[in-house]
Amino acid sequence: MLDKIRALLNEIEVLKAATREEVEELRIRYISKKGVVNQLFTEFKDVAPELKKEVGKSLNDLKEAAQQKINQLKESFETTCDGSTGLDLTAPGDSISMGSRHPLAVVRNRIIDIFARLGFSVAEGPEIEDDWHVFSALNFAPEHPARDMQDTFFIEKNPDVLLRTHTSSVQIRVMERTQPPIRAIFPGRVFRNEAISARSHCIFHQVEGLYVDENVSFADLKQTLLYFAKELFGEETQIRLRPSYFPFTEPSAEMDVSCSICGGAGCNVCKYSGWLEILGCGMVDPNVLEACNIDSQKYTGFAFGMGIERIAMLLYGIKDIRHYFENDLRFLRQFKAAL
Ligand code: PHE
Repeated sequence: MLDKIRALLNEIEVLKAATREEVEELRIRYISKKGVVNQLFTEFKDVAPELKKEVGKSLNDLKEAAQQKINQLKESFETTCDGSTGLDLTAPGDSISMGSRHPLAVVRNRIIDIFARLGFSVAEGPEIEDDWHVFSALNFAPEHPARDMQDTFFIEKNPDVLLRTHTSSVQIRVMERTQPPIRAIFPGRVFRNEAISARSHCIFHQVEGLYVDENVSFADLKQTLLYFAKELFGEETQIRLRPSYFPFTEPSAEMDVSCSICGGAGCNVCKYSGWLEILGCGMVDPNVLEACNIDSQKYTGFAFGMGIERIAMLLYGIKDIRHYFENDLRFLRQFKAAL
């Protein structure tokens, strides 16, 4: 009995309640008529006579302690005399921390925004593609070595199911279902079977653009890209086009922008050349137009494509492409943008 009383005393000492209701529950459990303390009083009659004095005193102490504890808990929820709850309702709330956009989304949205001002709409297509939309319709001959330009992930046993290696496949899908004029950009995720390093990843993002209409010329391409470069990297930016090769454009070019970090003077980012390569482009090959049932005698077009990771690296000075995919909050929290 004495042990029981001691245990209960310890228990009561550390009671806690978060609400008035909880206090009431404790009151019922410990000091109501059917509560545990009263229960002990009924057991008191069985205590040996020589112990009655000591046990009786302990029991009374216990009852007192329980009563005090419950009162004390009750008081902590008592309203103050002005009727308020005792809480300062004018105190400032806890701030909710805002999330931030992923840097790739920030840059993608900026690119979309710039081209939207030139009248380009946005279209998307599937990431799991077939050979026709990724290669054949884009003028890659069946055994042409150009297919090796991009190491492709094929679905096992079926070479006609593959992960797109570029968003040029969306060009084809749009041209198959629309006749010119077509003016659209295609942002999306692409996949290449490449070793992951600081500079390349097997998953990355592109934005591709396409403009097909009567009398679209290389001059239109150049002017569009110059406007884009100035909007993205700053008014003083210059561009340079170098001849290149893509199966789906002829002629083809690679575009450099003057280094936004050193302004063209030469630094370690532009490898002391003053220029940064940012995209591939060219006039849509007539074979591609014909593959999509567009009259290549009547219509011409230009296309361009760029990697978002690379552009974001240049804009923000990010040195390792793997940062984009690691979801390290210390990295991600640095990017705040309304777009
Ligand atoms: N699809 C090309 C690539 O992935 C880029 C490109 C697009 C080049 C359109 C020319 C025209 O590298």
